[in-house]
Amino acid sequence: MRVHPALAALLGALTYTTNAVAAASVDDAEASSAAVDESIVKGSYIVEFDGDEDSGAFYQDLNADGIEVEHHRMDMKYQLFKGASFHLKGDVAELEAAASVIAAKPRVKSIWPVRKIYFPKPDVTHVGSNVSELPQRVKRQEGNGNLFTPHVMTQVDKLLAEGYTGKGLRIGLVDTGVDYTHPALGGCFGKGCLIEYGYDFNGDNDTSPVPIPDDDPYDGCIGHGTHVAGIIAAQLNEHNFTGAAPGVTLGMYKATGCGGETTNEMLLSGFLAAFEDGSDIISCSAGDDSGWSSDPWAMVASRIAEAGVPVIVAPGNSGNSGLWYPSTPASGLAVTAAGSVENVVLPSLVKAATFSVNNSTQTERFGVRFGSPSFQVNVTLPLWAVSNDTTSETDACDALPNDTPDLSDKAVLLRMPTSGSDCTTATQVKNLADKGARYVLWYSQTNSNIPDVYASGESIEAVAGIPSEQGAKFISLLNEGSTVTVDINDWSSAGLFIHNLDNPITGGYTSRSSSWGPTQEIDVKPQVTTPGGDILSTYPLNLGGYAVLSGTSMATPLLAAIFALVAEVRGTKDPQVLRSLISSTAKPNVWFDGQTAHNDILAPVAQQGAGLAQAWEAAHATTILSESSISFNDSDHFVAERTFTIQNTAAEDVTYILGHTKALTMYTFSDNGADVLSTTAFPNPTADGWAELSFASDEITVPAGGVSEVTVTLTPPQSLNATLLPIYSGYITLNSTNEESLVLPYLGVFGSLHDTPIVQAGYDGGVFLTDTNGHFNIPSAANTTFTLNRPDSNSSSAGVIYPKLIIWPTLGAPTLRADLIALTDTGLPTTNWKGYETLGPLAGFPATLVPRNGASSWFYGVLDDGTIVPEGTYIFVTSGVRVFGDASKEEDWDVVETVPFVLKYKS
Ligand SMILES: *[C@@H]1O[C@H](CO)[C@@H](O)[C@H](O)[C@H]1NC(C)=O
Ligand SMILES: *[C@@H]1O[C@H](CO)[C@@H](O)[C@H](O)[C@H]1NC(C)=O
Ligand SMILES: *[C@@H]1O[C@H](CO)[C@@H](O)[C@H](O)[C@H]1NC(C)=O
Ligand SMILES: *[C@@H]1O[C@H](CO)[C@@H](O)[C@H](O)[C@H]1NC(C)=O
Ligand SMILES: *[C@@H]1O[C@H](CO)[C@@H](O)[C@H](O)[C@H]1NC(C)=O
Ligand SMILES: *[C@@H]1O[C@H](CO)[C@@H](O)[C@H](O)[C@H]1NC(C)=O
Ligand SMILES: *[C@@H]1O[C@H](CO)[C@@H](O)[C@H](O)[C@H]1NC(C)=O
Ligand SMILES: *[C@@H]1O[C@H](CO)[C@@H](O)[C@H](O)[C@H]1NC(C)=O
Repeated sequence: MRVHPALAALLGALTYTTNAVAAASVDDAEASSAAVDESIVKGSYIVEFDGDEDSGAFYQDLNADGIEVEHHRMDMKYQLFKGASFHLKGDVAELEAAASVIAAKPRVKSIWPVRKIYFPKPDVTHVGSNVSELPQRVKRQEGNGNLFTPHVMTQVDKLLAEGYTGKGLRIGLVDTGVDYTHPALGGCFGKGCLIEYGYDFNGDNDTSPVPIPDDDPYDGCIGHGTHVAGIIAAQLNEHNFTGAAPGVTLGMYKATGCGGETTNEMLLSGFLAAFEDGSDIISCSAGDDSGWSSDPWAMVASRIAEAGVPVIVAPGNSGNSGLWYPSTPASGLAVTAAGSVENVVLPSLVKAATFSVNNSTQTERFGVRFGSPSFQVNVTLPLWAVSNDTTSETDACDALPNDTPDLSDKAVLLRMPTSGSDCTTATQVKNLADKGARYVLWYSQTNSNIPDVYASGESIEAVAGIPSEQGAKFISLLNEGSTVTVDINDWSSAGLFIHNLDNPITGGYTSRSSSWGPTQEIDVKPQVTTPGGDILSTYPLNLGGYAVLSGTSMATPLLAAIFALVAEVRGTKDPQVLRSLISSTAKPNVWFDGQTAHNDILAPVAQQGAGLAQAWEAAHATTILSESSISFNDSDHFVAERTFTIQNTAAEDVTYILGHTKALTMYTFSDNGADVLSTTAFPNPTADGWAELSFASDEITVPAGGVSEVTVTLTPPQSLNATLLPIYSGYITLNSTNEESLVLPYLGVFGSLHDTPIVQAGYDGGVFLTDTNGHFNIPSAANTTFTLNRPDSNSSSAGVIYPKLIIWPTLGAPTLRADLIALTDTGLPTTNWKGYETLGPLAGFPATLVPRNGASSWFYGVLDDGTIVPEGTYIFVTSGVRVFGDASKEEDWDVVETVPFVLKYKS
């Protein structure tokens, strides 16, 4: 009988802001409803039962208490979780009272509101648009010596070449559903199909207020889950790639309709069902703002991993927010969070064309990016180049020579002009048109783009761009004296072609968007990284068949596939062993600040965990470390000496040389000279100071089949400013005589989370009063008058401006409370809270496990207990418990008041 921490978010106008700039505008629809958190399904709750409980008996019990259940949502009868979700009738006060009664029931272990969660909107770089080209059915094939870069980057290609495919393993996905009719995803659903099992927790009726589940997880409208499924298990297709573990069987637990919105109850159910249906690995590319490993969903996911099934989850795409921001359930302790690195190539989906040399009947495909005007008819034309020099800066920049042939029956090839020069494509087009040109192909100056061209000129009928390497190939053929004939179909019948552009700037580095750890409790997140930026995979047929998407959503399934491959090679599914192997064999990446790579320092562990996963090394390593990372915690909890074990599974004794490689140290706050801590975002300020590590012995020999213990002693970087909470990190390295090179990432905080004020007054990283008028959270002047609708009236809220409390805590806050204090007489009872006579908490408070980016709350004149307050002058008082603080100790709270405001009601 505990009130679940998340009960806090029950009814309030509490919104977790997703960026340091909180959403501020309220439209009429939202404002006219009573104080309701926009991120919850008002009136809907999930309960977890204590023990084997029957929801029928529970509902009878509620009925006896006079609590009206409007409808049942879901019955959750799982081995690892027994509970139900339901929707209650009633107004704000009634709901609040009912939730308290439910929370107090002995049979209820915990209760929390049904929260809305949105699948990360895929950043769709390219999507195919031509499905007619797809073969009806591609025979299921396994293993191809492919050059698919995400596989090469992670050594998956080497395991596929050795014949491993994840065969026999079942991966359960919790996602948006999947287009299993896609030939590259097997073409069917059910026994014997690639997508063999699963469920649809949401159902297909998006207008229904309750999920209407069915057993068909088909998705033809969102695409996210189809992309994810292809990353794991796509079969060899016309674009010549496969998933990383094309031999596995997939399960899909669909948790959303076409709107992309889901709820914590559906996602939770997806995890539990995937576990119960015998998944060997569970992968989920969704999450909710959190940062806490003690978050309820994170704890259930962690429970599954502890029960023996590896759980891989995307930590989110909030890299721009900087340190301390993994989402839930990636934040779960035993969960493996997959950070993202950028693909070394940028797959670009363009139109397919062909060419032939010297009238040969043999043709070769190449990619063209149709410009404007695009090709309306099919053309077959000899190629004619403006110059034979692929480094020319001035193709057709001047009038073409007199001996130029008539260009009307040719496909003209020329190089893009240098940007910024006097010569533009318009100049070029004019000079070409003077010679009658109708069809023009530009090739780019570098292989990192394909020109997107536009031309207007009387004779011009169609233009297109091609990559520079294709241009160079054509020029070299022409220079040899060959004739080249190009064949380009009209835009509607031209097929899809994937051209891999170079990615010289970000390729191979950790994605800027990849969310950073650690968790609020200073657990290491993410665990490792895999390619997630610019990934080609399958897409629903009616959305184009193939697409290039980015995010940790794409990194996660690749890591799940790597777990499957390593499990297949080693014959173990032990989550901890697999995680430790994949972590210890990963390759730490250098620090890339978004623009520049710093080759002299590794990126922080809080950004990349152990680094880029190396599947082959993980599968074949003979050394198993007992840990996949070490957190030295903060200064209050610091233990200098730590131990871990090395298990040597090799047939011979192995000697390990222990070493240390430091990673970039970063401050949590910036030193702005002000007396408030200033929160920062990517990239957090860097600090010149590192931990020092020493080992009881720098060399250790572990006998064949033996296990030895290593003791490491860490001295934190004392020179740093502890007030600014520097996070130091690095890698313990182990180089062995059998040529293994392993890493064990560590991190710690030099400073005390408990000594860090959790809330501060002020606009810059603090707590302040603003209003719902506009988008910019500008602090309101003292004694601003707000004239609201009476909360119990039905009058229109059009034009009403509400007071809004913004709370940006310095770190994630274990408990936040916001109270209303009257400066004028109200006649209402008050209680003492932190030295103030409070009328009570604002709706939604106290809140617990608040993410670092804080909470905002609109005030509609109603308190959390449903009391409507009279007109008068008020202040908001925000109080918060410090991280690692004890709520029963006064000194562990920080208290901040806003300026006064005057509350009036429309008559
Ligand atoms: C497909 O990939 C294989 C292996 O890299 C390569 O040999 C082959 O040429 C590719 N085929 C096409 C059509 O790109
Ligand atoms: C979808 O749900 C709505 C609301 O419950 C209902 O009116 C409608 O008939 C349902 N549509 C279908 C196709 O079942
Ligand atoms: C290709 O065919 C064209 C016309 O059909 C002809 O003019 C040209 O000489 C041929 N080229 C070669 C290399 O055979
Ligand atoms: C171009 O050729 C394709 C067949 O290759 C045909 O389907 C299409 O109709 C043709 N387009 C035009 C505009 O004639
Ligand atoms: C390119 O053209 C120039 C004259 O414009 C000529 O001198 C040169 O030999 C040509 N190079 C090749 C490789 O054909
Ligand atoms: C371990 O090997 C790596 C790469 O081979 C090397 O950079 C590093 O210095 C070695 N560490 C020690 C302690 O010898
Ligand atoms: C550490 O940072 C705090 C906050 O900005 C600042 O007040 C203090 O002066 C700094 N201490 C040192 C020793 O620089
Ligand atoms: C706001 O009003 C209070 C009286 O209710 C007054 O004491 C205070 O000075 C006013 N503040 C400002 C900034 O006007």
